[in-house]
Amino acid sequence: MRKMILLQSCCFSFLFIFLRVANADLSYSVQEEMKRGSVIGNIAKDLGLETGALTNRRARIDTDENDKRYCDINLNNGELIVADRIDREGLCGEKASCILKHELVLESPLELHRINLHVQDINDNSPQFNEESINIEIRESADRGARFVIEGAHDADVGQNAVQHYNLKKNDHFILATNGNTIELVLDKELDREKQDEINLLLTALDGGSPQRSGSVVIHVTVLDANDNAPVFSQAVYKASLPENSPLNTVVVTVSATDADEGVNGDVTYDFSHVSEDVKKVFSIDRKIGEIRVIGAVDYEITRTFEIRVKAKDGLGLSSYAKVIISITDVNDNAPVVNLKSLTNPISENTPPGTEVGIINVQDRDSESNRQVRCSIQQNVPFKLVPSIKNYYSLVTTGQLDRELVSDYNITITATDEGSPPLSSSKTVELSVADINDNPPEFEEQSYSAYVSENNKPGSTLCSVSAADPDWRQNGTVIYSLLPAEVNGAQVSSYVSVNGDTGVIHAVRSFDYEQLRSFKVQVMARDNGSPPLSSNVTVSVFISDVNDNSPQILYPAPEGNSFMTELVPKAAHGGSLVSKVIAVDADSGQNAWLSYHIVKSTDPGLFSIGVHSGEIRTQRDISESDGMKQNLIVAVKDNGQPSLSATCSVYLLISDNLAEVPELKDISYDEKNSKLTSYLIIALVSVSTFFLTFIIIILGVRFCRRRKPRLLFDGAVAIPSAYLPPNYADVDGTGTLRSTYNYDAYLTTGSRTSDFKFVISYFSWAQPGLVDYSSFAPSIESSSVAVLS
Ligand SMILES: *[C@@H]1O[C@H](CO)[C@@H](O)[C@H](O)[C@H]1NC(C)=O
Ligand SMILES: *[C@@H]1O[C@H](CO)[C@@H](O)[C@H](O)[C@H]1NC(C)=O
Ligand SMILES: *[C@@H]1O[C@H](CO)[C@@H](O)[C@H](O)[C@H]1NC(C)=O
Repeated sequence: MRKMILLQSCCFSFLFIFLRVANADLSYSVQEEMKRGSVIGNIAKDLGLETGALTNRRARIDTDENDKRYCDINLNNGELIVADRIDREGLCGEKASCILKHELVLESPLELHRINLHVQDINDNSPQFNEESINIEIRESADRGARFVIEGAHDADVGQNAVQHYNLKKNDHFILATNGNTIELVLDKELDREKQDEINLLLTALDGGSPQRSGSVVIHVTVLDANDNAPVFSQAVYKASLPENSPLNTVVVTVSATDADEGVNGDVTYDFSHVSEDVKKVFSIDRKIGEIRVIGAVDYEITRTFEIRVKAKDGLGLSSYAKVIISITDVNDNAPVVNLKSLTNPISENTPPGTEVGIINVQDRDSESNRQVRCSIQQNVPFKLVPSIKNYYSLVTTGQLDRELVSDYNITITATDEGSPPLSSSKTVELSVADINDNPPEFEEQSYSAYVSENNKPGSTLCSVSAADPDWRQNGTVIYSLLPAEVNGAQVSSYVSVNGDTGVIHAVRSFDYEQLRSFKVQVMARDNGSPPLSSNVTVSVFISDVNDNSPQILYPAPEGNSFMTELVPKAAHGGSLVSKVIAVDADSGQNAWLSYHIVKSTDPGLFSIGVHSGEIRTQRDISESDGMKQNLIVAVKDNGQPSLSATCSVYLLISDNLAEVPELKDISYDEKNSKLTSYLIIALVSVSTFFLTFIIIILGVRFCRRRKPRLLFDGAVAIPSAYLPPNYADVDGTGTLRSTYNYDAYLTTGSRTSDFKFVISYFSWAQPGLVDYSSFAPSIESSSVAVLS
């Protein structure tokens, strides 16, 4: 309800004012911020009113409803005075003219005067920036002349009192450009974040009032990074040394590069630049830390130095390079190697000491002292190593070799280097010693003896010899042979033969002890080397006797041939020697030890015979009653096993006169006649044989150039002497006759037929090839002369 009343009155007032406006406007100018009570003007004067009239007419200052009343009227003197604080900026803001409108109301009559108060600005406000400080970020890569708009300052005052210009405190990089209302920072000199990453600029805004007022702001320029810096390595060249065979993951060296940029721009990563695959197999680089580590086998013997280019790159791709030189140091990881460059194998056992038989080369892949190699050879061999040029050695013999003692050598050559610890290796060289025929065969015995009984079978084994030869193969192969010699005038080969391979000695013929009791042959053992070596040994062959000869009675002549009669004197006393049976035995020893026995006698008691002497003696005196003719049959036995014997008849005539026994002659005559005829026949045959032989000789001389006939002669004549057994003397004391006598007698009485038989048989098995005819020649000449005479 009240609101409605107000509204009515308002309407009313407007209407009223409107009616009275015409010529009554008053304008005053007033500075803002005048003290209360300050006089603006004198209304009474300006309206031409008396002073008292104002009071009477109840003059008053009205404002529009709700408006604040800034002035008042002094009713006493009519002055218009400041009633309240007048702040132009508060009332009018930016407006260039600021007019406060009031009304002067006079009553009786009611008058209405408009009063316009022109509020004059005073410089009561400083320029003011929006913020206390201005932050701007500028990339360091910004070019010179780049502009950065800055929000200007504000001054509540107007006109001259408002901001008139700006001032930038002097600095290195920026200048200020104002264009009307816009103010800009202009980059006058490039920024470098790495030198200065923040710049504070002081910007001052100045107004045109008097006194002048100003306001400042700090412009905080943050220089933003641009990737304008490449990473920089701490060293251009990194040097490291690394022992070979270093374990995996060993850190060799750490490279480091710094980048002045920030953030991504300053994030350095490392990598190898162009490197070979070989390097990549051995080393790796940590991208972040720059550690170079071993990832593969490091072998000094393959690569001694690595030169690696390392790249450092920042986040946006600027990079720089450094060189890493890794020197590998040697470790003694290679054992020396022994190489056999040449070898004379086999070497002959007569190689003189000091001969080079091989060349050895030693190598060590390491270096320096790890490469220095000493070479040695084991002790107990006749070889030594002689250093030659560089790492060559000669293998030289130091002593005489003997294949028969040591035929193979395993020579171990050891090479040791001088590293620490030293490494060594060895090589075994097998060396054989080749044979030289330097050993003659050697017989096991000094001499050999063979014993054989006579009448052996031809071809029977006598003994065997054996010789050993330590040489190799044919140089040690022994072959036996007989040395040519004569035995009893014949080639030894006609007596014995030796098996060349086995050394077994065989009899070639049947031996006759009565002719040959022992003989010696020389057997040679020869090896098959070239030249061959040989040695000789003597084999004595002893032939032992066999009882193959019956006693031969020489006297009296054997029965049939004998017509001898012993005369026994009638007056012979007992024990008188009347005759003697003489017998020989071609055998020897017991076989030739003869005993005599009377087997049968006319008067058994009259005669006795000495068992060993063969002497026939009377046992008693002869008496008249004894018969004139006494006949004894004497058996001669040898002592062989079994024993052989012969018998003979001894005719004894007990008489003092041979004429007393005519009938005895008659008896003997018949016998003698028959004997004579047989002798005649023999003589005839002999003569014709001789004649035939003579013819053959003449023919032989003609056609066979005297060769064959000689032979025949030789055979016929040589035989008797060849047939002669060796001396009987050593078999003495057996009671038999001395051999010389024995054989003379034997020959004169012996049967010629048997002799000739022997000649034939001798030639029948004397091999022509084995007989050395020439050796016979002289004996033929002499013998033939003897025969012819
Ligand atoms: C040498 O070595 C070989 C092979 O190792 C061996 O058969 C032979 O018996 C050795 N010889 C000697 C004389 O040690
Ligand atoms: C036998 O010795 C000779 C030298 O006396 C030699 O030349 C030959 O090679 C040797 N034979 C064998 C089989 O060793
Ligand atoms: C063996 O005897 C033969 C013939 O008499 C002779 O030439 C040779 O030198 C002898 N050998 C030895 C080793 O005595």
